[in-house]
Amino acid sequence: MKTVLVTGGAGYIGAHTCKMLFKAGYAPVTYDNLSTGHKEFVKWGELVVGDLHDTEKLAKALEQYKPIAVIHFAASAYVGESVENPFKYYKNNVGGTLSLIEAMIRTNVKKLVFSSTCATYGVPDQLLIDELTPQHPINPYGRSKLMIEQILQDLSSRDQINYVALRYFNAAGADNDAEIGEWHDPETHLIPLAIQSADGGEILNVYGTDFATPDGTAVRDYIHVEDLAEGHIKALEYLSSGGISDAVNLGTGQGSSVDEIIKSLREIGVGVVYQNAPRRPGDPAFLVADNSKARSLLNWTVTNNNIKKTLETALTWHKKHGRK
Ligand SMILES: NC(=O)c1ccc[n+]([C@@H]2O[C@H](COP(=O)([O-])OP(=O)(O)OC[C@H]3O[C@@H](n4cnc5c(N)ncnc54)[C@H](O)[C@@H]3O)[C@@H](O)[C@H]2O)c1
Repeated sequence: MKTVLVTGGAGYIGAHTCKMLFKAGYAPVTYDNLSTGHKEFVKWGELVVGDLHDTEKLAKALEQYKPIAVIHFAASAYVGESVENPFKYYKNNVGGTLSLIEAMIRTNVKKLVFSSTCATYGVPDQLLIDELTPQHPINPYGRSKLMIEQILQDLSSRDQINYVALRYFNAAGADNDAEIGEWHDPETHLIPLAIQSADGGEILNVYGTDFATPDGTAVRDYIHVEDLAEGHIKALEYLSSGGISDAVNLGTGQGSSVDEIIKSLREIGVGVVYQNAPRRPGDPAFLVADNSKARSLLNWTVTNNNIKKTLETALTWHKKHGRK
């Protein structure tokens, strides 16, 4: 069995990817400090509890497990917190990744699939965002991810690393067996917050109703987490078959407004409790992926582009586990 080291494998997207790796015949090994992840999510392979900054421990894990590649999810990922505490973001995301790369170079593990984000694009002035859209992030979280992309580009040009940076749009939903799902604490994402609001949680704030979108609320591209996970397997296969370093969007190519999410949730029985609130600074009206490069380069396809089905998986997970 081919081993893959998965940093952040105890988190939301990482755990879904470990499950899919396992199903595809790989042996995932999670490397995670459990700062925001969950031990219970590591069900499809071993767990090494460790921090990205511990280069020695990382190098030891790489030597011990001899992975064919590293998939690197581990990061701090709250936009708001990054504005409040930028140092944490540069230290954990940029510093942590440098430590990982050092361990990889030392142990001659070259292939890396990296979790980047559409936040690296900032506020683009085009509707469908392709990979050539200029990257002008507007917060420390997005900047930290762009810096990592730039570092990877430089190292790749010296043949020290061979990577695919996957720029995710909004991860959504849960595993179809409801074994794992979205579990962030605190939660900041729309769908879990909307579901929680109907179940005694806080009232959902709808930030901005005067955007230049059909119903005035912000439009985002919600990609089912299993499609995201599949994108990592495809990226791994691409690198394994000699693919050169690149950056690729992962999104459905379709947008849903906040209002549409609330209405779709109501249609599946979730009485979202919400209030309108002013726009948040820097929130774009429209963030939707052009995913043609993922389809052509990685041979990846969206299997779930029905937002209601995505919401149903999130609801099933919520009902089963009652997270608030
Ligand atoms: N959730 C989204 O919609 C989204 C969108 C774009 C990009 N991303 C990126 O995807 C990745 C995963 O996001 P998620 O939603 O699964 O987040 P998450 O918080 O659920 O997972 C992150 C994991 O990394 C671990 N971690 C953090 N810092 C660490 C460190 N220093 N050492 C070891 N482990 C550490 C955490 O314990 C956690 O298990 C992140 O890099 C995030 O920036 C997420």
